[in-house]
Amino acid sequence: MTVILGLESSCDDSAVALVTADRRILAQAVVGQNSAHQPYGGVVPEIAARAHVEILPSLIRKVLDDAKLSIQDVDAVAATAGPGLIGGVMVALLAGKGLALSAGKPLIAVNHLEGHALSPRLADPDLQFPYLLLLVSGGHCQLLEVTGVGDYRRLATTIDDAAGEAFDKAAKLLGLPYPGGPAIEQLAKDGSADAVPLPRPLVGSGEPHFSFAGLKSAVQRAVVSGDFAPADLAASFQQAVVDCLVDRTRLALERSDAPALVVAGGVAANQAIRSALEELAARYHRRFSVPPGWLCTDNAAMIAWAGAERFTRGDCDGLEAPARARWPLDETADKVRGAGVKA
Ligand code: KG4
Ligand code: ZN
Repeated sequence: MTVILGLESSCDDSAVALVTADRRILAQAVVGQNSAHQPYGGVVPEIAARAHVEILPSLIRKVLDDAKLSIQDVDAVAATAGPGLIGGVMVALLAGKGLALSAGKPLIAVNHLEGHALSPRLADPDLQFPYLLLLVSGGHCQLLEVTGVGDYRRLATTIDDAAGEAFDKAAKLLGLPYPGGPAIEQLAKDGSADAVPLPRPLVGSGEPHFSFAGLKSAVQRAVVSGDFAPADLAASFQQAVVDCLVDRTRLALERSDAPALVVAGGVAANQAIRSALEELAARYHRRFSVPPGWLCTDNAAMIAWAGAERFTRGDCDGLEAPARARWPLDETADKVRGAGVKA
């Protein structure tokens, strides 16, 4: 039995998990920091890093105890090494290095995006490479062809905001708590998706890229106008995001021979988005796979699993592995006009 310890602290969730190479989750824990960041309406990097330092050691102890294992029973330590808020990234990576060094275990420095990208294979044993991946999180919105572990070709990215960022900004405008995605999804249940006319940026354009900044501005104007009920705004905004994701993914499907469509990242926890993409996959005769909601939002099981995928291929890192604020999955992808730092 190959056991991997996974550590995650790249944003506002501290997480630890023990996962086996045959897909068993022996134990895991995730502690969010929502209340610490809520007064600011977004994640404050300094507060996040300090909170990771305070919580991560006790989570490691708890997860090992829950699984009735010691660090000596672990085959490798997988820690997120980026991309993310650098102060937070360093917490899990340095903890991982310390554990690996003291216990004489290999270290695997995991790309957080690779964690999301491979997470569907943890939940879905029959999911084979290649697949077309829609990766939608707070910091990223990309379409990638996943051909194997470490083998990613980016077909599209966002030219401004990520999808989760759009949910968070729209929620803030509506006076909803952070993180905005779950709050908007909840409120949207009481609203009408066609009550508020909102734009679908880039829908119909010739490349499958994304844009959400104009949608956020339109929500802002609608809120200021005072003409619409919050639930109608939430439902109409969510529908606009669904329509953008479906149209852009459709274009990518038309350009890809991959037999499966896969969705991952925090925004993939959204039920309306899951259903719409499942329908799209069926229309294009592709297999559809999306992890359970808890595996879509940040967690350490996906980091341990990405570690397991790499460990079984003999792919480990030295203790000099750097922490990286920016770390694109496809280093060769062209820069897209309008795209900022989002890789
Ligand atoms: O993957 P994740 O947990 O962290 C990053 O790597 O960014 O994604 C967090 C993002 C946040 O923007 C949050 O609002 C969004 O995922 N999110 C959702 C839902 N749950 C989380 N967006 C829409 N609907 C949801 N149910
Ligand atoms: Zn994430």
